[in-house]
Amino acid sequence: PDEDLAAYFAQVVDAEQKIEPRDWMPEAYRRTLIRQIAQHAHSEIIGMQPEGNWISRAPSLKRKAILLAKVQDEAGHGLYLYAAAETLGITRDELVQLLLDGRQKYSSIFNYPTLTWADVGAIGWLVDGAAIVNQVPLCRCSYGPYARAMIRVCKEESFHQRQGYEILHTLAHGTPAQQAMAQDAVDRWWYPSLAMFGPPDGDSTHSTQSMAWKIKRFSNDDLRQRFVDMCVQQAEVLGLRIPDDDLRWNEQRQAYDYTQPDYDELMRVISGDGPCNRERMAHRRAAHADGAWVREAAAAYAAKRAEKREK
Ligand code: 3HC
Repeated sequence: PDEDLAAYFAQVVDAEQKIEPRDWMPEAYRRTLIRQIAQHAHSEIIGMQPEGNWISRAPSLKRKAILLAKVQDEAGHGLYLYAAAETLGITRDELVQLLLDGRQKYSSIFNYPTLTWADVGAIGWLVDGAAIVNQVPLCRCSYGPYARAMIRVCKEESFHQRQGYEILHTLAHGTPAQQAMAQDAVDRWWYPSLAMFGPPDGDSTHSTQSMAWKIKRFSNDDLRQRFVDMCVQQAEVLGLRIPDDDLRWNEQRQAYDYTQPDYDELMRVISGDGPCNRERMAHRRAAHADGAWVREAAAAYAAKRAEKREK
């Protein structure tokens, strides 16, 4: 009976075990995982656009090769995550269609433009750095396929963060023009990176339930704070300034006090009114249309092979 199944589900989650695809789970658990994992996967794929924007204009062959590897990794992260979402009973084609129809979202952060090469460094240091702070706890998520996907993603994100940090370090110790370019990128990416962690806990619709189900292990504000505390020392080593006049160590809290991002801006960007939303979606729709022949060819080939096997 359902109450025994629900009790079993709660026992498994409370015991820090994993819920697997064939286990019984509350419908709302399944739905919120599909929403979050799909949004996560869409973010990886859309995120290839701002980052990929600089592959053909990287300042050296070495930088080009590293950036190419990073963007390819993001595609792979999307693949692991779509595969994890499919274990919940929805197909990748349906998820892509939900994205293209604007009925599923991707991370706000990728709706900002990459204006200079230094943005590639700022994305690596700040956006991939924020992603790591958010994704390491997800390795302990109660849903098995998602937690396991995160373990490999986190290893690759660490490389992404390192290469971005090294780009900024090179620029920040370069000519005055390079230093100015690096500082400008940090000025533009700092607050959108803080907003990436989601609305403040008081405005978070899913946090309570998501934490009860051990999907979310720490609150949006806790992870945001952890990210700020991590970045302050790194900015000092870089010799770059975090654009926040009220940033200061709070001895009593043993953490930095900092200025919150503009959450009205976050809501506008989430609802489609960010600097690059239209461009990102137009590009994604065009890529889907341009790739139709590949999908059809692959399906035709698979059908032929299946026919042969039956003979
Ligand atoms: N961008 C877009 N939507 C966001 C958002 C953001 N930065 N932050 C919150 N939202 C949405 C939520 O999806 C939710 O939408 P809904 O109303 O349609 O259900 C709503 O705002 C309320 O937010 P909640 O805090 O209640 O939502 P969650 O409990 O889902 O928490 C989250 C938000 C922390 C982003 C959580 O979904 C999460 O941890 N997701 C997995 C991580 C992820 O998606 N990361 C993408 C970053 S990009 C990346 O990692 C690629 C790397 O290469 C940089």
